[in-house]
Amino acid sequence: MIQLHDKTFVPYLSESEIQQAVKKVANAIQSDFYVANPKQPPLFIAILNGAFMFAADLMKNLDMDLELSFVKFSSYQGVASTGKIDELIGFNQSVKGRDIVIVEDIIDTGNTIEKVLPILKSLEVNSVKIATLLFKPSVFDKKYEINYVGLEIPNTFVVGYGLDYDELGRNLKEIYKLTDNQMLNIVLFGPPGAGKGTQASRLVEKYNLYHLSTGDVFRYNIKNETELGTLAKSYMDKGQLVPDEVTIKMLESEVEKHPEAKGFIFDGFPRTEVQADALEAFLAKRNTKVALMLALDVDEDELVKRLLLRGKESGRADDANEEVIRNRIQVYNNQTAVVADYYSKQDKFVKIDGVGEIDEITQRLFTAIDNFNQ
Ligand code: IMP
Ligand code: MG
Repeated sequence: MIQLHDKTFVPYLSESEIQQAVKKVANAIQSDFYVANPKQPPLFIAILNGAFMFAADLMKNLDMDLELSFVKFSSYQGVASTGKIDELIGFNQSVKGRDIVIVEDIIDTGNTIEKVLPILKSLEVNSVKIATLLFKPSVFDKKYEINYVGLEIPNTFVVGYGLDYDELGRNLKEIYKLTDNQMLNIVLFGPPGAGKGTQASRLVEKYNLYHLSTGDVFRYNIKNETELGTLAKSYMDKGQLVPDEVTIKMLESEVEKHPEAKGFIFDGFPRTEVQADALEAFLAKRNTKVALMLALDVDEDELVKRLLLRGKESGRADDANEEVIRNRIQVYNNQTAVVADYYSKQDKFVKIDGVGEIDEITQRLFTAIDNFNQ
């Protein structure tokens, strides 16, 4: 596993798999050009920067009097109303009348080559063939033919062997791919008395998740006097809200402690749009995201009834007074609205009817998750 900037990559193609693909391309070119027409060696045009390593290895596998130029494709805004100007910079010979083989590291959408082709045509080349080490057929949507492909790969982001992620990774001998982190991350909401704790533990069991309650995390860090706990406490002691950065750092360290989890249930977080953004950024670093927000829906009178009963049984002070209960529900409703809105915009908000038998409600949650997972 390697880390480049903010992303994690895992080994994907070994050196020998890459070299095999290079040889495959070389052999096909060798037979098309040299065997068919030994008098007219092609001019190879490698597109910088990504193709430098493939071009080097490809050349070593070709036995013909070839020529090679490394060129850079540039697209810039021309003076008013002329629109974008595309050009190829760096030729060290005339290309007129030549048989060209474009050398690319990877063809993805095919946009780059689509712009390169008319430039070569305007330079009156005799013919153009395209050779690429890697090709993503599921993304490519152009009409032109790609003549030589080393390996077809699915639509995944790769680095190494010339390919970069924001300029890093070009020097790697192997090719790595971005981890496809198929985590099931759920933001769980439920008013006091909705049975959130019970339902969360069932979700944990069924989907192999880790239940991350911000309240518990705070209490744990403060109790154990961790650096973050001490920091958080310094705000709380002053009666201030703990800043989002501190909270998100605590969540990060909790998430890091549970690499085995297939996902997380976020309970008590996010409460604001800023926090939802922070959570998104933090999950994006791990190449994952919030899958959905589940909100247990129970009407206020039913909640009051349940909580007053719980208050009688447990003696919990905050469950004894109807006014206090109604106020807590109000606070909850206000907070949910913002977060629900945030996730509805992404089509990730699901309201679950929280009235009925416990098993029945669990089943509703499972169905919502499984519908999403399909
Ligand atoms: P296209 O124009 O979409 O075919 O993309 C071609 C260019 O996009 C390549 O030359 C790369 O610079 C870049 N690219 C596309 N896919 C990847 C990838 O998976 N890793 C790194 N660069 C990529
Ligand atoms: Mg390239």
